[in-house]
Amino acid sequence: MIESSDFRLARLPLNHGAGQMPVLGFGTLIPDAAVTISATRDALEAGFRHFDCAERYRNEREVGTALQAGLAGGGVERADLFITTKLWNTNHRPERVGPAFEASLNRLGLDYLDLYLIHTPFAFQPGDEQDPRDQNGNVVYDRGVTLLDTWGAMESLVDGGRRRAIGLSDIGLERLLPLYESARIKPAVVQVEAHPYLPETELLEFCKEKGIVFLAFAPLGHGMKPGPLEDPVITAVAARVGKTPAQVLLAWAAQRGTALLTTPKSAARARENFDVSALPQDAFDEISRIETRQRFNEVVKTGSPGFIPRVAS
Ligand SMILES: NC(=O)c1ccc[n+]([C@@H]2O[C@H](COP(=O)([O-])OP(=O)(O)OC[C@H]3O[C@@H](n4cnc5c(N)ncnc54)[C@H](OP(=O)(O)O)[C@@H]3O)[C@@H](O)[C@H]2O)c1
Repeated sequence: MIESSDFRLARLPLNHGAGQMPVLGFGTLIPDAAVTISATRDALEAGFRHFDCAERYRNEREVGTALQAGLAGGGVERADLFITTKLWNTNHRPERVGPAFEASLNRLGLDYLDLYLIHTPFAFQPGDEQDPRDQNGNVVYDRGVTLLDTWGAMESLVDGGRRRAIGLSDIGLERLLPLYESARIKPAVVQVEAHPYLPETELLEFCKEKGIVFLAFAPLGHGMKPGPLEDPVITAVAARVGKTPAQVLLAWAAQRGTALLTTPKSAARARENFDVSALPQDAFDEISRIETRQRFNEVVKTGSPGFIPRVAS
């Protein structure tokens, strides 16, 4: 549990002394280039310090533009920021990991990363086509590389010092466990979908036991309707405590000891989604008792993402 009741400045320690991740993170999976820039700027102004990126989002350049402008404007130092990006499925071959990392860093305009994640445990056919398909439209997987091979290349880059921590995304316990056991450098972070309809309690317990930060994406259920934002328990708690449903869902995520990612696209929503503080214990418990179960993002099953920006890279 995070001790403070105000989550705005809360951070969770990463293993190996690799720094601290802000509990409230801004996700950059935004289809439009101009909106990426304005939303990233608004998030920075609202107080977000963790920016979650990915080569697959095809907008690292736009995120970098907004971050560089924020840094140049003063008031925020690079050391205050926590920047994450992710290795895409087509770059799992060990010899492709270093170049993919450098390309991301270049697009973001940074000289180091706080966290580099393997985006999904699924290796796709290596190459520049991010979504390789056969003539029947099926994903072309790469059977010539294991997750552990890729992890070994990730470890080597930590040794080089240009990214402070490494981790995984879209992974379940069945694949995380063997990797955790064989890894020389243990994963610092696991990023997965999590919200009251998909609490991932077993994975969260494992992460807590091993000192891995559990980073929840879709804490608002990707904004899907119907979904957690409209759940009667959430709306009733929101009315009772004088918060919005989004603030209640984000508070619940932080209060159970996870870091989280949210993607507000306007300045007002950025301020709303950053204004997160703990719920009364009875409200927290009531939300934890919600029994609806629903996964909104299937990426964890196939490695193929849902919605991806159509921006030239
Ligand atoms: N590892 C992975 O495979 C993976 C997959 C998906 C996402 N992610 C990461 O997670 C980040 C978070 O994505 P997410 O979809 O989970 O973001 P989210 O903030 O939980 O959900 C975004 C949706 O919620 C709506 N929303 C945001 N703030 C709201 C508020 N205050 N009130 C009402 N609705 C609100 C947005 O609506 P509007 O569009 O109208 O603003 C949008 O439809 C992504 O940007 C990405 O960095 C990772």
